[in-house]
Amino acid sequence: MLRKAIFPVGGLGTRFLPATKALPKEMLPVVDKPLIQYAVEEAAAVGIEEFIFVTGRNKTAIEDHFDHSTELESVLQAKGKMEALDLVRAMVKNPGAVSYVRQQAAAGLGHAVWCARKLAGGEPVAILLADDLILGQPALAEMVAHWPGGNMVAVMEVEAEATGSYGIVTPGEDDGKLVEVKGLVEKPDPKQAPSRLGVVGRYIIEPGVFDQLDKQETGAGGEIQLTDALATRIGAAPFHGLRFSGERFDCGSKLGFLKANIAFGLARADLAEPLRDWLTQLR
Ligand code: G1P
Repeated sequence: MLRKAIFPVGGLGTRFLPATKALPKEMLPVVDKPLIQYAVEEAAAVGIEEFIFVTGRNKTAIEDHFDHSTELESVLQAKGKMEALDLVRAMVKNPGAVSYVRQQAAAGLGHAVWCARKLAGGEPVAILLADDLILGQPALAEMVAHWPGGNMVAVMEVEAEATGSYGIVTPGEDDGKLVEVKGLVEKPDPKQAPSRLGVVGRYIIEPGVFDQLDKQETGAGGEIQLTDALATRIGAAPFHGLRFSGERFDCGSKLGFLKANIAFGLARADLAEPLRDWLTQLR
């Protein structure tokens, strides 16, 4: 049973300055929805009941986003804008279902996840990185459907020259969808990379990963890497990669973010036609 999800949202978002000076990067919208809301909805769709945000300074907009806005709600009510009212109310989770914990130092993704260890409470947890936006079938749902227990990561083939941006898998048994993970290394040079199978920001981790993170060992970039903690669990717990079917956009990069806005716009019935018309006229 998977009941909890961790959303590491402590990053500074320097690649999107000046937009992210006062606004958390996870609040950047794709079409009309913030990145973090896509991730939260993906988690809610698989029955996640507890939403754990690992935040940092200047992230209160995320907390406000998932809470009631009494002023807005009363204005919408008074004006009879019931559709908008339903939309904002539907985002608010049950009392106690959302927790926030601060990551007090930018010490890596593994460190961010470790900050949530008490809230994870010895259960398996999902981890979703809001930067990795997936169009089409939600990746976490596919993972849950194929999860044999233990650790699992979403994987996709990446460009040979891009291995230095991803956790890269050493594949074992592989049925084209589910692939056994025999090794995992964080951001290897293309020459040293064991494959081109890269980790995308969706994980299911078993509690043993937290025991490893407790050791606070640093890896690539001097940071505490989730990748390294997962790698040390190979042999102790099952570990699989899942090739997801959707299209992934790297919204941590400007180009990926722009592409996501266009692709998600084209997927919307109210926008597809005028957007396509305009795109075909572009030179
Ligand atoms: C993180 C992980 C990396 C993974 C990537 C997916 O890196 O450390 O293993 O492949 O997310 O987006 P980041 O992109 O935060 O540098």
